[in-house]
Amino acid sequence: MGFDISRTISKSIPVTFRKVKFGFSEKNTSKYWHNNSPFVSFFWSAMSTAFPEGELFFMDTGRYFKDEINNPELKATVEEFIRQEAHHTYQHKRLNNMMVEHGFDMHKYENWFGMWLRGVRKVLPKKLQLSVSMALEHFTANFAHQYLANPKYTEGVDTEVKALWSWHAAEEVEHKGVLYDLYYEVGGGYFGRVVTLAPAWTMLIALTLLAQAEMLAKDGKLLNVGDNVKGLWYLVGPTGLVTAMLPEFFRYFKPGFHPWDVNDKELMDSWYRNNGEYITNLKVVA
Ligand SMILES: [Fe+2]
Ligand SMILES: [Fe+2]
Repeated sequence: MGFDISRTISKSIPVTFRKVKFGFSEKNTSKYWHNNSPFVSFFWSAMSTAFPEGELFFMDTGRYFKDEINNPELKATVEEFIRQEAHHTYQHKRLNNMMVEHGFDMHKYENWFGMWLRGVRKVLPKKLQLSVSMALEHFTANFAHQYLANPKYTEGVDTEVKALWSWHAAEEVEHKGVLYDLYYEVGGGYFGRVVTLAPAWTMLIALTLLAQAEMLAKDGKLLNVGDNVKGLWYLVGPTGLVTAMLPEFFRYFKPGFHPWDVNDKELMDSWYRNNGEYITNLKVVA
């Protein structure tokens, strides 16, 4: 297909590991940390439980093929990608543990994602596992794009928790092309790429919603109609977060698709301009 790896790498921005720490804690941070909304706070908290197992899976599928990479620039980028994902997991475990302190069984939800991905590891050949990771990275990259591009999705979020999600979002955008480039570098094809998209997104969303519903029930907020309607509007209203991602779902099926077709360089530059100082202050090791 004449896939030119150097062209796609040069379109992206450097993937950079940053070690950070955030000041949220069970004592100082409400369990309703997203705009005082149980529905939306628990939606994001439920999604956070996907990361420990999900990002381990992403890292492993990258590691499977590391020795087959001929392009040294891509090899270094995959290594940096792995360092980023490992640190995301560490920080999200802190958030998950905070919600455990608030009385929720977050480790059970982490395990739901683990069971799903252990099944994927068992059933699918390694290249299709990499394709599942790519599909989920396409999800996180677009979630991240929306999160950073539209301030309305982060209105009223606790400052420290928002810093975690914004940092994670920025790095998801930064490395959105890495597994894609890896997949084509090691000989992946169109069908293997697109076949996993719908099942992977469906499972991620379904398990997240299930965990969210259980958290709402546990908290006695399952029938909190006003907040639930507002939360649904936030997710699937005409300008909702999930609604905004739909065009990206379909664009993935385009034969010549590449994650950097949506050039996020300007978005990232402006994000770093506005948050660079905060991130620099958080930075322990560059
Ligand atoms: Fe991540
Ligand atoms: Fe990622």
